[in-house]
Amino acid sequence: MKKFVCKMCGYVELKDAPPEKCPQCGAPASQFEEKEDAVKTQEDETESGLKEKHVPEITVSGVCSMVPGCVDAHIKIGSVLHPMEPEKHWIMFVDVYLDREFISRIKFNPACLNPAVSLHLKSSEGEFAAVSHCNLHGNYIAQQQLAR
Ligand SMILES: [Fe+2]
Repeated sequence: MKKFVCKMCGYVELKDAPPEKCPQCGAPASQFEEKEDAVKTQEDETESGLKEKHVPEITVSGVCSMVPGCVDAHIKIGSVLHPMEPEKHWIMFVDVYLDREFISRIKFNPACLNPAVSLHLKSSEGEFAAVSHCNLHGNYIAQQQLAR
């Protein structure tokens, strides 16, 4: 999937033009380059036959045990959990978007963490997206429409 990518931090812009300023690291638009294979999809992964799984699995739940009334979005990297091998092969971070606006980057220390995270959303509307970043295999996207 063709997208603009920040050369400084690897942020992928999901809109059709580079942002004025990278919402993750603050780099100017001039630091963005358009890449033909910026993000891969489930279809790309299936075609590539990769053994490790990279496409984020998104589960949305309207019942939260911590914050009343919030919507929980759970993200797990890979239908088969992606390996977390320090200095070898791991998921470095996952960037999260709502209606193609960046909302968070979650970084993973592979020595301590599995590639999974839960977010507490204020809104139950919009298109939720997650982009995982593997140090060897690049970016993979999953999107899900939140229930109204
Ligand atoms: Fe990988």
